[in-house]
Amino acid sequence: MKLDAIIVFDFGGQYCHLIRRRIREQKVYSEIVTCDTSPGQIEILRNKFNIKGIIFSGGPSSVYDFDSPKFNLKILDLNIPILGLCYGHQLIAFNFGGKIALGKKKEYGITQVIIDKPADILSGLKKEEKVWMSHGDKVCNLPSEFEVLAHTENCPIAAFRHKEKPLYGIQWHPEVIHTENGMKMLCNFIFKICKCKANWKAEAFIEDIIEKIKQIVDKEKVIVALSGGIDSTTATILASKALEKNLYAIFVDHGFMRDGEPEFISNTFKKFDINFISVEAKKRFLEELKGITDPEEKRRIIGKEFIRIFEKIAKKVGAQYLLQGTIYPDRIESGFRKHSDKIKTHHNVAGLPTKIKFKKIIEPLKDFYKDEVRDIAKKLGLPKEITLRQPFPGPGLAVRIVGEVTPEKIRVVKKADKIVREEIEKRNLNENLWQYFAILTDTKSTGVKGDARAYGYTVAIRVVESKEAMTASFTRVSYDILEEISTNITNEIPEVTRVVYDITHKPPATIEWE
Ligand code: XMP
Repeated sequence: MKLDAIIVFDFGGQYCHLIRRRIREQKVYSEIVTCDTSPGQIEILRNKFNIKGIIFSGGPSSVYDFDSPKFNLKILDLNIPILGLCYGHQLIAFNFGGKIALGKKKEYGITQVIIDKPADILSGLKKEEKVWMSHGDKVCNLPSEFEVLAHTENCPIAAFRHKEKPLYGIQWHPEVIHTENGMKMLCNFIFKICKCKANWKAEAFIEDIIEKIKQIVDKEKVIVALSGGIDSTTATILASKALEKNLYAIFVDHGFMRDGEPEFISNTFKKFDINFISVEAKKRFLEELKGITDPEEKRRIIGKEFIRIFEKIAKKVGAQYLLQGTIYPDRIESGFRKHSDKIKTHHNVAGLPTKIKFKKIIEPLKDFYKDEVRDIAKKLGLPKEITLRQPFPGPGLAVRIVGEVTPEKIRVVKKADKIVREEIEKRNLNENLWQYFAILTDTKSTGVKGDARAYGYTVAIRVVESKEAMTASFTRVSYDILEEISTNITNEIPEVTRVVYDITHKPPATIEWE
């Protein structure tokens, strides 16, 4: 059975991936394609999916820029409903002869919009709605075949529809959570206008993924980078179904794992019916990181060391391919799109060295978000200890030690992390949390311990809630629990004189400190 799908055209907007994410949250399949995708390429996609709608994302350009991203006008002849958001909204208007005013006055942040006609995409909305705007240019004039649906103080045409064709535009961003009824607006498009059926599940892709791995690899050997986290474990299990004994799972202990982790991983995976190889490489990583304080450099060094170890083992076992558990957010943050910025170098994406001795790197989960990977893992029958584990970055505690990584700092952050985990888990708070951990900051401060002056480390505690790690909120952990964590850390770790709690959301912060 072919699934219904909405295709997102990427014009370089920073929220483009969120559009796809919101559609998938509604159990409708969605894929992002480049903005110049041709009708022929849409036809190819139609072999796999019923394409019921297209969304043009926002983007940083102005429609009048010489090199502004454009779309193939023949897309308009396909008679597929199209919704333009922000730059996409302006582009539709522009292509039909509308006038765009170049942005002298910007509209940025939460804005009150007046809904003039609560129809189609805006049906069921109140007279006034709180929406998230982020634009300079605006549509100021539309040809007569269009109808204005909403305006703001600064923007006379904040939403429109074509009178006969299924074409819609919204100047604001319904995909951003600050647009209070953004989901309702998107659902109007997905379900009322495009008439999609909500029948997509990540698990439905299991057989496809296994088949694709078989096709790429054929009878050759593969090594999989296994960190013990949900992503790499799920990738390993999928690959082992495709390759059986031609798969070698490699766990590298770089020395930056949490307390008890290497043992947990070895014990867990020795029970699975896979070739499991554990590599002890603590000294090597520590030496390479000596004197390094820049977080991006740390990530690149760690990425490179991982690869060199994998290459060595691949040579030994005769493997040609490397398989990784990379997921979609890793790629977004590493800046893989043409017009998007790099937030941080995920060790397994942009942190890879340019020359690699593998025929190919296979990333079967590269289009999925973590909660979707969790669904796949559950379907594969993985135990709760794995499906419910909190995410842990590949470079491990090395990116939770601000500044140079030293054996002393590793010891301190490991102990602090253990205390945070114990305090949260003994109260069963973990099931609703995305991550809870300790960071060793690079700040020292004066304290007094046992009537004597002490000068020691400052530990920060980070507890966040999130759905997919693209955005996150700090958790309002009770003062009683924070007090117990703080007391235990300062009592049990002599090197620590101060504990602070991180009250920053993502954005503007990221979840990890480095
Ligand atoms: P940030 O810190 O960017 O993290 O908000 C988002 C999620 O990704 C995890 N993370 C990583 N995972 N390699 C990984 O495999 C990395 O280099 C890496 N950096 C961050 C982080 O723990 C959070 O869940």
